[in-house]
Amino acid sequence: MTARHLLSLRDLTDADWNGLLESAERHAARKAPDDKPLLGKRLGLMLLAPSLRTRTTFELACLELGADCVHLPAGDGLWGLEHRDGVAMDGTAAEHVREAVGVLGRLLDGLGLRCFAGLRDAELDARDPILHAFAEVSPMPVLSLESAMDHPHQGLADALTVRRRKAGRKVRTAVVWAPHVKALPMAVPHAAVTAFAREGHEVVLAHPEGFDLDEGVLADAKEFAAASGGSLTVTHDRKKALKGAEVVYAKAWGARADYGDKDAAAAARSIHADWMVTPKDLKRGDDAVFMHCLPVRRGVVVADEVLDSPASVVLDQAAARLDVQKATLLHCLGDAS
Ligand code: CP
Repeated sequence: MTARHLLSLRDLTDADWNGLLESAERHAARKAPDDKPLLGKRLGLMLLAPSLRTRTTFELACLELGADCVHLPAGDGLWGLEHRDGVAMDGTAAEHVREAVGVLGRLLDGLGLRCFAGLRDAELDARDPILHAFAEVSPMPVLSLESAMDHPHQGLADALTVRRRKAGRKVRTAVVWAPHVKALPMAVPHAAVTAFAREGHEVVLAHPEGFDLDEGVLADAKEFAAASGGSLTVTHDRKKALKGAEVVYAKAWGARADYGDKDAAAAARSIHADWMVTPKDLKRGDDAVFMHCLPVRRGVVVADEVLDSPASVVLDQAAARLDVQKATLLHCLGDAS
């Protein structure tokens, strides 16, 4: 039987999407249940990039479901891994993904993998090569904990947070680019746009010229929006995007043209420093909420006054990860899967 991977929000059927969110709500209502549906299962957490929330919430989700969680962080004794096929391994990588995943597949029931974008070659990043190298040879389910192109668990948690905060209403959501001190991947804005489109919200994506997201992701998001009664529009007019928005989701990401050129990236970002979110951007009074996946740089991406205000739901988003991940672990590793 093929392993039940969870690699991207775009792969989920509508039944999976709604089933996972409903399952997450059921888990949220069951604090410290006695039954341990994943007792005897083992999850590996391979983090090839840093994490606070993902690591904590996956470890807790495993604990509460009865599964064991084995932490496999890069930079902590893990061999350097080669994911490309057909290359002579005469560099720093001592082990190929084929053997590493083969071994882990004999020992574990699932693997959570975080592998960020390289931000050097946009076409390569768009193929999500590391994630797919693992998934293609893995006999066990691979769960993406953020890859070059998507952050599915974040997207699910964000959708759940909006459902909770807006009582299931369809609302206008502005996903807005924000400045940062360095170029960042597009995984989170991809996930936010996809998640909100799947939910049937009115999604307005705003970014400066040159910061386009992946065309394929946007095309799929438009299809999801059409199917769910929502919409997706893209604009460079930040003010227009924010007007009437009940959800303001800020995230920094890099411009493809600047990949590999630190000076150009810094210059482009400094030109758009006024895209930082400030209190005037949330003018709908009690209705508007501010969202960010975290970690976030105060005074660069968003003003302190916004993060410290009741409008900020960033901690709710992080907490929702626990509920969502119990649902995805059961979906991918559970006996019914
Ligand atoms: N939002 C998120 O995935 O947080 P971490 O990078 O800390 O895991």
